[in-house]
Amino acid sequence: MSNSHEISGRREFCFTVNGERKTVPAYPMERLLDVLRHQLRLTGTKEGCGEGECGSCAVLMDGILVNSCLVPLLQAQNANILTIEGLAGAGLHNLQQAFLHCGGTQCGICTPGMILAALYLLKKNPFPTIEDIREGLSGSLCRCTGYMQIFEAVEEAARRQTSDEV
Ligand code: FES
Ligand code: FES
Repeated sequence: MSNSHEISGRREFCFTVNGERKTVPAYPMERLLDVLRHQLRLTGTKEGCGEGECGSCAVLMDGILVNSCLVPLLQAQNANILTIEGLAGAGLHNLQQAFLHCGGTQCGICTPGMILAALYLLKKNPFPTIEDIREGLSGSLCRCTGYMQIFEAVEEAARRQTSDEV
């Protein structure tokens, strides 16, 4: 018996990941998370709950923060996707530096999704209050840090950012 991923048959999907055009064979209902991790080897995107609850699989799709465990590849056709691997340029991104400096990462499972959630927040709101940061990161769960270092890191990144960094 075929599973739900195979309902419409395997075919090619095209999208852009971190500035590179990709064509991958996949079933329409395959999760974007799995294609990123297993086909494209972009393992910075993590799987936590697999149910849209923890935010560890978050990526930006056409500039919007999405949980990639909930995105069937069908929806990613021709999309522009940013994963944590696409964030750093010649050096670490401002947010990555701030997470390091403030101790905002421990086991690291939540960190890529947390940083992309913070990036999304700072793009919408370059001068967030602590309440804005709590709210902006409320879809990302961390079992290790107690959140304070993460919130401090986002505050620090917001203070240091220049217009072309976020
Ligand atoms: Fe996607 Fe938890 S793994 S939200
Ligand atoms: Fe371990 Fe956040 S650093 S879950």
